[in-house]
Amino acid sequence: MNRKLLIIGASGHGKVVADIAKKISKWDSIAFLDDDENKTQAMNIKVIGKISDVYKYIDDYDIFVGIGNNYTRERIQEHLEKLGANIPILIHPEAILSEDVEVKQGTVIMAGAIINCSTRIGKGCIINTGVTIDHDNIIEDYVHISPGANLAGTVIVGAKTWIGIGSVVSNNVNITSNCIIGAGALVIKDIKEAGTYVGVPVRKLTK
Ligand SMILES: CC(C)(COP(=O)(O)OP(=O)(O)OC[C@H]1O[C@@H](n2cnc3c(N)ncnc32)[C@H](O)[C@@H]1OP(=O)(O)O)[C@@H](O)C(=O)NCCC(=O)NCCS
Repeated sequence: MNRKLLIIGASGHGKVVADIAKKISKWDSIAFLDDDENKTQAMNIKVIGKISDVYKYIDDYDIFVGIGNNYTRERIQEHLEKLGANIPILIHPEAILSEDVEVKQGTVIMAGAIINCSTRIGKGCIINTGVTIDHDNIIEDYVHISPGANLAGTVIVGAKTWIGIGSVVSNNVNITSNCIIGAGALVIKDIKEAGTYVGVPVRKLTK
């Protein structure tokens, strides 16, 4: 572990990530990288360069990708892994994780989240504020589970799927990769085809 943390992305999600990093108190200093030239600081944390500058900081900083888009986050984290970056896991002190929960690098677990036993969470995931994930779930890489979503037991969420705010996923349901589940949706059956799904229970959007 390095004494300094660099967060890629100083927008909304990056700021929440920074707030969690401050609360964890593992790092002496925190900085951002962001491609918006007008952004010089966020939350009193300096923006010290553009994302393409990251190679300069690989040796001295832990590096965390604070970007909400699952595809962008994957692209940048995979690049960082190739460069040999040290990518931490960020867990808010007020998240609750049961025993035998596995969390991989680059994942953030936000305030009020509850993860129950024997759940596996992949790399680069966002487990947002107040999410509950019950026992024996498998959350694959670069998934985003938005605030207040509830996943029952033995759910599988495929890589890069985005579960919208306040959604509910019933037990034993598998959702394939690259899906979007809309805000407030209810998923009661497996989703086998990538796409956007909305409603209670969900239907596929065909536009
Ligand atoms: C699902 C979603 C991505 C669709 O966005 P979109 O592709 O731009 O779709 P549109 O807004 O054009 O809506 C298309 C249709 O789906 C309906 N729809 C969209 N989102 C819906 C939702 N969450 N629940 C029910 N119906 C929804 C719209 O009413 C519209 O219906 P119509 O064709 O009968 O008028 C978006 O609405 C959504 O729910 N995003 C999740 C937001 C979220 O969770 N944010 C948390 C960030 S941390």
